[in-house]
Amino acid sequence: MTPQRLKLAAIGCGSRTFIYFELAAKQPELYEIVAAADHSPARLAKARALSQNPAFREFHDDVAILAEPKLADLMIIATQDAFHFGHASAALRKGYDLLLEKPISTNLRDVLALEKLARDLGRRVTVCHVLRYTPFYRKVKAIIASGVLGEIVSVEATEGVEPWHQSHSFVRGHWSVMEKSTPMIIAKSCHDMDILSWLIDSPCTALGSFGGIQHFRAEKAPAGAPQRCTDGCPVGDTCLYNAHRYLGDQKRWLDVIYDRAKTATDAEITDWLRTSPWGRCVYHCDNTAVDHQTVNLNFASGATCTFTMTAFSEGRDLAIFGTKGRLLSGERVKKTAGCDLVVEVFATRKLERITIDLEKDGGHGGGDAGLIRALHAEMSKPRPEDMESSLQKSVESHVMGFAAEESRRTGRTLDLAEFRQAYGG
Ligand SMILES: NC(=O)c1ccc[n+]([C@@H]2O[C@H](COP(=O)([O-])OP(=O)(O)OC[C@H]3O[C@@H](n4cnc5c(N)ncnc54)[C@H](O)[C@@H]3O)[C@@H](O)[C@H]2O)c1
Repeated sequence: MTPQRLKLAAIGCGSRTFIYFELAAKQPELYEIVAAADHSPARLAKARALSQNPAFREFHDDVAILAEPKLADLMIIATQDAFHFGHASAALRKGYDLLLEKPISTNLRDVLALEKLARDLGRRVTVCHVLRYTPFYRKVKAIIASGVLGEIVSVEATEGVEPWHQSHSFVRGHWSVMEKSTPMIIAKSCHDMDILSWLIDSPCTALGSFGGIQHFRAEKAPAGAPQRCTDGCPVGDTCLYNAHRYLGDQKRWLDVIYDRAKTATDAEITDWLRTSPWGRCVYHCDNTAVDHQTVNLNFASGATCTFTMTAFSEGRDLAIFGTKGRLLSGERVKKTAGCDLVVEVFATRKLERITIDLEKDGGHGGGDAGLIRALHAEMSKPRPEDMESSLQKSVESHVMGFAAEESRRTGRTLDLAEFRQAYGG
């Protein structure tokens, strides 16, 4: 039985754990934050402050925290992608249920192995597919469930990463070299694969994918652009990706990569840019993450879906075409109809315009807050597989993502059941 107050601990104290700790600390009736592990004393100090718990315990790393007798009900695994499998497996074996950051792992074999391990040990794992907990997607799910759209036939979805975000995370940053982290379609778009799987609510049976790096490559560099923005670039004044913007209008991005972002002087930040990956010219990086990709998906229900990820748009667009009506949403709808969602019923030609307060709950359209609000109840459900973002459900959408990457690389259309089987699932 889930205790009245869920005790939380974390392995990896970066931006994600800080968000979850901050949100959990605001609900002391549900959560008690008891411990965390990280190599960085400064990050542990921040985690301790967020915990609001004088008895909070700090550990140098995963090995140290897992050497202790079980300290909490739930372990947050929020190290970088490549560590998830090792840290999650060890914590499961120690007896912890998990709040596991996406991706489950960087390769499908480990994803499927982790699912088996959790099942064999009878542990609960919630994967941080935070979009499932946003007011926006909950509304879309409710509209589909109401039957007003009829049967879903076609879905169009776009994820606009946004040019600066692409450069920060996927050209200069943690997820720029796919071989060291995760394919873009998993690193960024596993949320989209997951939300499509959740909304269409039918197994994906086959898919095909195309994509590549069109812009962030050496031959697109302006003439004379040096290796680093700090080396006196001749086009620095007009370049969209000038790293000096970290000192100005893009300063908020420093918060997630530079511990002293709030206190460092401009001179210190400039010095840091001279050696940091985030000071590199975006046309002279070692990036392998794609800047655009499309996926065509077929579902068992008969529905089909086209998904586009592009660096060169912002936000998510979604259109659902059903036998009785259609639902439109996203930036284009916002600009033309002035609302978040439009639902049109064919029989009556009735249009419903729906606005959702997307900002009120903070990060990821309210998904971070929604996840932490729901977590206690999720962990109390009698059957782990009924959890909204259970490991079992998340594996489905990870299979879609890994298959999309394989299809993009090989140019082949893939049967999902065969693909999964080939990886031991
Ligand atoms: N759910 C979402 O929407 C979402 C959004 C952003 C990032 N993420 C994912 O969350 C994860 C964490 O991202 P982040 O930005 O917080 O990362 P981060 O790099 O800021 O933090 C990771 C932390 O792990 C620590 N660490 C490394 N090895 C360790 C070990 N052996 N023991 C203990 N600590 C160790 C590092 O010192 C670092 O502080 C990533 O996998 C990322 O893909 C998810």
